[in-house]
Amino acid sequence: MKLVRLLANLGYGSRKQATSLCRQGRVTDASGEVLYADDVVDPAEVRVDGVPLDPPHGLVLMLHKPVGYTCSTKDPGRVVYDLLPPRFRLRNPALSPVGRLDRDTTGLLLMTDDGTLLHRIVSPKSALPKVYVATLARDLRGDEAAVFASGALLLESDDKPLMPAGMEVLGPRCARLTLHEGRYHQVRRMFAAVGNHVEALHRERIGGLTLAPLAEGAWRALTGEDVARLFGTAT
Ligand code: URA
Repeated sequence: MKLVRLLANLGYGSRKQATSLCRQGRVTDASGEVLYADDVVDPAEVRVDGVPLDPPHGLVLMLHKPVGYTCSTKDPGRVVYDLLPPRFRLRNPALSPVGRLDRDTTGLLLMTDDGTLLHRIVSPKSALPKVYVATLARDLRGDEAAVFASGALLLESDDKPLMPAGMEVLGPRCARLTLHEGRYHQVRRMFAAVGNHVEALHRERIGGLTLAPLAEGAWRALTGEDVARLFGTAT
């Protein structure tokens, strides 16, 4: 790919701005040799002001989402893109959240610019386990695990019962849920269906991938090994 297009696609500016960066001699190869806008380049070899480029197309990252951020570009409040380098919002193809977490849910959020991978992760065929810890307003009543495992729980305004979900009791008002689908506000609606209310919700795992040791608000790019672990195929 031509350098000017690569820079524009990675959010370093419009084509005009990218051309200007090159004209100023700020774009070089790894040995410091100045590159030209029309050069066809290997992204790994390019430096801007001496710094390697952001990861090229195929970026997959995990973010430890804090409370109060939405998974949107348009929300007037705080959005998950605010936690990433500003260039990431300008990438083409766009960097999108893989599924969504509510504004008040914390934990593991994946984002990618790879549409095929995104669909593979969210596809019902993959049925990747998503693991949440819910803190509840009221004591568990005792039958929740059986109700959630039944495969017969029909949530309000849905026309299909939920797939069986796992539940482990962590305390009188705390439970770990393992879901294999991702419906709108699913965990909150599941607990509402058994007369409870979720006060705090945290996603700790998707497939074989956990958040640890990523601090709240921090992100990191995933490696091929991480993606293999996500699908449970890591060696
Ligand atoms: N279930 C919910 O209710 N909210 C989330 O953010 C994720 C799953």
